[in-house]
Amino acid sequence: MNPADTQQAVGTLNRILEMELAGVVRYTHYSFMVFGYARIPIVNWLRSQAAESLAHAQEAGELITHFGGYPSLGIGPLLDSHKSDIGSILVESLQAESATLAVYRELLRFAEGKSVLLEEYARRMISVEELHAGEVDKMLRRPGDVAAYRTH
Ligand SMILES: [Fe+2]
Repeated sequence: MNPADTQQAVGTLNRILEMELAGVVRYTHYSFMVFGYARIPIVNWLRSQAAESLAHAQEAGELITHFGGYPSLGIGPLLDSHKSDIGSILVESLQAESATLAVYRELLRFAEGKSVLLEEYARRMISVEELHAGEVDKMLRRPGDVAAYRTH
């Protein structure tokens, strides 16, 4: 990539890094706010999402330095609506995850024909994040309801 493209790629990767770091904080916070009978599996699931966001943030950071960029110390929007029922937490996660997915898609469009490394990375992350959003969508459906939540 030429220096201008590299700079733009690093900018997009830094937005991804900040959004994934926001995911770490958000999922960790949610995990403290779960009460009731189903608490333990939900807390475990939220903590595993926090760990996955951290792994994604680390991957973005490693790519930033790969391209000679400086990894941001900032953090993306946290979106805490201060609601702590599981439904609101899941809806809020779904919104945040689709915002992150949009940035991965932007990176893919940008990388096409410019960097196979970034293209492959963006494609892989889009499939991972899409499956993840699908998982949250299934959790938001009522039992027996096959239609996707997001089409409601
Ligand atoms: Fe992620």
